[in-house]
Amino acid sequence: MAGAEKYALITGSSRGIGRGIALALAQKGVRIAVHYYQNERAARDTLGEVRQRGADGLLVQADVTRPDQISEMFRTVKSAFGRLDIFVSNARPEAPAFFQAPLDITLKQWDTAFDSQAKAFLVGVREALPLMADGGRIFAITYAQGSRTGGLQPWVAMGSAKAALESLVRYFAVAAAKRGITVNAISPGWTEDSVMNTLPEQVQQLIREWHARGWTPMGRLGTPEDIGNVVSLFCSDKAKWITGQVIYADGGASLMNPEVPPEIQIG
Ligand SMILES: NC(=O)c1ccc[n+]([C@@H]2O[C@H](COP(=O)([O-])OP(=O)(O)OC[C@H]3O[C@@H](n4cnc5c(N)ncnc54)[C@H](OP(=O)(O)O)[C@@H]3O)[C@@H](O)[C@H]2O)c1
Repeated sequence: MAGAEKYALITGSSRGIGRGIALALAQKGVRIAVHYYQNERAARDTLGEVRQRGADGLLVQADVTRPDQISEMFRTVKSAFGRLDIFVSNARPEAPAFFQAPLDITLKQWDTAFDSQAKAFLVGVREALPLMADGGRIFAITYAQGSRTGGLQPWVAMGSAKAALESLVRYFAVAAAKRGITVNAISPGWTEDSVMNTLPEQVQQLIREWHARGWTPMGRLGTPEDIGNVVSLFCSDKAKWITGQVIYADGGASLMNPEVPPEIQIG
């Protein structure tokens, strides 16, 4: 990432994983468009931390379930930055907007999941590409366990929407390949200081213990910084030959076998 100044837009960077990505890129001097939906204060804090790392940026607001608002956000980015080198589609609505089991989910909840993931990525990438020079980087933040499995029943809409998102990553990777623009999905494992913060303390503890017991072989949850570092790594010129992939950034959790308790697997 050496050389000319770089510009990034990261949706949902007011908090959680998006914030970790913003700070990791700011550490490399990238100028950041910090996007938020309702929590302007958190977004301001993130921008403050971006500046503490010697980078700069601006705040942008949009509901990513609304294509017109996504387009407006890109217009703001274009007039402030004039170009874009990195686009990260990371935002995800709050759980009540989509979290419901298959037999009960409303069509509104279903649409919210798809509009915020697959459709937001479709619209966002088509807005980002004209602003990008050759060699740009595009990321979708997915949860690949949810797009491949069926166990966490109320995740049905988001899991299906993430599967569509991962599929779009492959199609856009081919569409952008001639320009040397890579398009990849990053799949974090369960991550601290994210949506986790909104779960009851007892649920958080159960999840932490399960991962420490071995479901994550590295013995802990991820952090927003871990995921930020992976995105930063993929922004390196050295990663220019990797495109259209789903990258698991999960301390090895996706390597484990769900039929066997972690203690027996790890020994
Ligand atoms: N957390 C995990 O363990 C985990 C694991 C795997 C994958 N992921 C993926 O990582 C991404 C980030 O997750 P997170 O847990 O870090 O998120 P989070 O802490 O819950 O933050 C959600 C972000 O999305 C924004 N947002 C919410 N509704 C929106 C809307 N309608 N339009 C635009 N932006 C909206 C929020 O903005 P405001 O602050 O303004 O509300 C916030 O910046 C998601 O795609 C998620 O599926 C997370």
